[in-house]
Amino acid sequence: MANAGMRRSTVGEAGVLQGPRPERSAIVPVMDIEELSQSFVDRAADLWRDVGLTRPWNDPLDDLERALGGPASTVLAGTEDGRLAATAMVGHDGHRGWVYYLAVAEDVRGRGLGRLMMAACEDWLADRGIPKLNIMIRGDNASARGFYERLDYALDDVVVLSKRLRPG
Ligand SMILES: CC(C)(COP(=O)(O)OP(=O)(O)OC[C@H]1O[C@@H](n2cnc3c(N)ncnc32)[C@H](O)[C@@H]1OP(=O)(O)O)[C@@H](O)C(=O)NCCC(=O)NCCS
Repeated sequence: MANAGMRRSTVGEAGVLQGPRPERSAIVPVMDIEELSQSFVDRAADLWRDVGLTRPWNDPLDDLERALGGPASTVLAGTEDGRLAATAMVGHDGHRGWVYYLAVAEDVRGRGLGRLMMAACEDWLADRGIPKLNIMIRGDNASARGFYERLDYALDDVVVLSKRLRPG
């Protein structure tokens, strides 16, 4: 199994595209995926803001710090020629894994980078013996749902309840 810390990933030729999926570039991407370094932390927060994943009540830098410092979580960074192209926060509770903040910079979408980031997250979890990966998608993010379904993620009969334990 590939180690995300030393991963270099490529994507082959495009298949036949159908429906509203973005058109795939003919360029074969090469992306290094490894744990986000401190020097990229601010850029990761900027990327999340740029792609609309942040909310006013959530400080992305706090989320980054917690995930990078936690024993069962990390943030993976996909870089191309030294530029931060993609991120994903991954972690687990001992049985179920989760992924948040999957983000691909807008100008490099449709080239398979999101798929590669998810493969790296799945490898990271499988390396730790985690059997299942849950994804939570905001109800208004129909586009992300289409992406995950394309990657064989299926709808579970689950309702998510939440309670804020501290303001902001
Ligand atoms: C969702 C996102 C990560 C996809 O990244 P990407 O690099 O463009 O995706 P890929 O090129 O790897 O696409 C992988 C497959 O999903 C398909 N796909 C991508 N976006 C899709 C969409 N909106 N609807 C349906 N299918 C989609 C692609 O066509 C491709 O299919 P194929 O490999 O079978 O040809 C990117 O659009 C993004 O960062 N969105 C904003 C942030 C976000 O919503 N993140 C998810 C939070 S839950």
